[in-house]
Amino acid sequence: MPYAHITGWGVSVPEPVLTNDDIAKMVDTNDEWIRERTGIRERRIAREDQYTSTLAIEASLKALQVANLAPTELDLIIVSSSTPEHIFPATACIVQDAIGATKAGAFDLLAACTGFIYAVNMAGQSIRSGSIKNALVIGSETLSRFVDWKDRNTCILFGDGAGAFVMQASDQPGGLLSAVMRSDGSGADLLTLLGGGARYPASEATVHEGKHYIRMEGKAVFRFATRAVGSVTREALDLAGLKVEDVDLIVPHQANYRIIETAAKYLKMPLEKFVVNVDRYGNTSTASIPIAAVEAVEKGKLKAGDKVVFVGFGAGLTWGALAAEWTGPVPTKKHVHPEQYRFFARLRSLARRALRFIEGLFSRREL
Ligand code: UT7
Repeated sequence: MPYAHITGWGVSVPEPVLTNDDIAKMVDTNDEWIRERTGIRERRIAREDQYTSTLAIEASLKALQVANLAPTELDLIIVSSSTPEHIFPATACIVQDAIGATKAGAFDLLAACTGFIYAVNMAGQSIRSGSIKNALVIGSETLSRFVDWKDRNTCILFGDGAGAFVMQASDQPGGLLSAVMRSDGSGADLLTLLGGGARYPASEATVHEGKHYIRMEGKAVFRFATRAVGSVTREALDLAGLKVEDVDLIVPHQANYRIIETAAKYLKMPLEKFVVNVDRYGNTSTASIPIAAVEAVEKGKLKAGDKVVFVGFGAGLTWGALAAEWTGPVPTKKHVHPEQYRFFARLRSLARRALRFIEGLFSRREL
């Protein structure tokens, strides 16, 4: 059975920074309260011309570059997002077209802030089963588009960004070691975005009622999260046959510094073993784990051979964890420049659209 290795990684965060002081000009809050209760100092907000796919594409190209893998070699693309570009088509298909992944299947996955854990596991299991060789997994969010900037309970928390992993089959042991996925729909009402779906299709009334905004019962989600992180991390470690002492690094979902602190206490692990960057990006939902992981790699905190646990929790309710042995790029003689494929991808996309148009003209005549 092949192993599923993480061989490439990339991040894309928008440049515009929104500080706590900026938010204090919009709602009744202040920098001190936000820092003390959440650990957040600032977050990134997508420009008007940046979408969930824009960030996903940038992160993907970087991940492919690290893995030295041509987009044409991808078999599968999964975009995990709670803020997809549209209900359909899938954001993953927009990414597939833009990067020129000519033979990849593509779909979106929605498991809120746990989405990246689920998506890496889905791609990993497809590789382990032997049905695919190369996968691209992306967590991408533009949450700022769904934040009620008058609601101080939520608007202080969220930010935009994307992170991507390339996963590849290999006979070398390592890579994904175990995965745990959990859910509890009895808590579905605790964190929601209700408008625009089939139950509350967009209408003047839904907009008037603010159903297109994120709503959260912060305290209840906090209580759930503090329990979930520690216990599911332990489960993933047990499944992988690892002990807490074997772990080099934990990459938790970045929702609140206090949740990470509580998890560290529960697991009796030093806080230094947890990656924390919630201070600079806020809660980027499903993108937070890959963004934090890439930062750890770049700072030399996550190296080839390290045992790492990724752990997430969020709306649904959902939670889950992955244990992995970090691989790093596979040595190769070839040098792929995925960015160059973008030009050909654009040409290909235009040609296919033109062909479809011409086909349409002829089929009309036949009728
Ligand atoms: O990624 C998905 C998972 N999401 C999470 O994990 C989020 C989990 N929840 C949390 O992180 C925390 O519950 C929050 C950060 C959202 C809120 O922190 P809290 O310590 O639970 O505060 P609270 O909602 O209990 O509010 C405490 C007080 C209240 O005032 P009173 O009633 O005690 O007088 C709030 O009205 O703080 C007040 N408050 C604020 N004050 C200043 C609430 N929001 C703010 C604010 N600025 N932004």
